[in-house]
Amino acid sequence: MILVIGATGNTGSQVCQELSAQGIAYRALTRNADDARGKLPTEAEIVEADLGNADQVLRALQGVTGVYLATPPNAEMVDWQIGVIDAAKQAGVSKVVKLSGLGASPDAGPRLPRLHAQVEEHLRTSGLDYCILQPNLFMQNLLGHGDSVKSDGLIYAPAANGQISFTDIGDIARTAVRCLTDDNLKQEVIALTGRSAETFHSVAEELSHLTGKQVQYQPVSFSDARASMVDAGYGEWLSDALIELFELYADNQGSYVSDDYKKVMGRQPTQVNEFLKQHQSAFMS
Ligand SMILES: NC(=O)c1ccc[n+]([C@@H]2O[C@H](COP(=O)([O-])OP(=O)(O)OC[C@H]3O[C@@H](n4cnc5c(N)ncnc54)[C@H](OP(=O)(O)O)[C@@H]3O)[C@@H](O)[C@H]2O)c1
Repeated sequence: MILVIGATGNTGSQVCQELSAQGIAYRALTRNADDARGKLPTEAEIVEADLGNADQVLRALQGVTGVYLATPPNAEMVDWQIGVIDAAKQAGVSKVVKLSGLGASPDAGPRLPRLHAQVEEHLRTSGLDYCILQPNLFMQNLLGHGDSVKSDGLIYAPAANGQISFTDIGDIARTAVRCLTDDNLKQEVIALTGRSAETFHSVAEELSHLTGKQVQYQPVSFSDARASMVDAGYGEWLSDALIELFELYADNQGSYVSDDYKKVMGRQPTQVNEFLKQHQSAFMS
């Protein structure tokens, strides 16, 4: 039995779909079973638990062999994830597949890769089998630019002219399920990126081509982007954390292209152009 933590979220929901497609039994953890039922495949066994409640987490892990561990980026993430790893060990789980981030390191400038590195270290020394998945910025975040592309033909982002090797969530989900089901994949750190690194200018160019209308990238300042994030309800902590990452992207430090997906899955990762083509209706009025 696999336990999917973050099952109704961006990556967890696709991990659930992939497990269902492969006929693998799994349990989906959520804080609200009624809400989750409508979002999850019918095969999902649902368990209600809050990651801040150690007893509920331990109960959710009973009879589980493998865990997919994704939590939202927030100030509690290290405590929650370390809690899951310790409880997994106590419950006799064999393997944890942790969603981390590209560039996770105790020496990283931005807080998110630093916090992920703390959890990674705890997992590495836990005695459990593990796979650590390190994706770059999700391609799916580009869908958030759909409204401004439709209304003004513009993409606003604080990334200057930096190249980013965006990662498709589908590639993360496929890799996660392979890690959860292949006994040979253990004690692995897998960097997951797209096939190439793109600037927001090249994304805009591709959208012009796909939509038949002029789309342009409008770089914005970090302070304006932060203010928009706070206005949009991201909260101060997450807005600051995301701006720290965009400072790296603007400095062209998000351009690393990995061949780990090909090594694990035997095929190339999704390309941004393919992704945009699949989702072109999100950018067309
Ligand atoms: N976004 C990116 O571009 C990007 C890039 C690289 C790495 N990452 C990493 O990806 C991770 C986020 O993954 P994601 O986007 O798949 O997650 P997500 O969509 O933000 O959240 C996953 C789920 O967490 C659950 N959750 C929230 N609070 C909870 C609690 N107290 N107890 C139990 N469950 C709780 C929610 O489920 P319920 O509401 O059903 O309870 C939610 O659906 C972060 O660590 C981030 O650093 C993100």
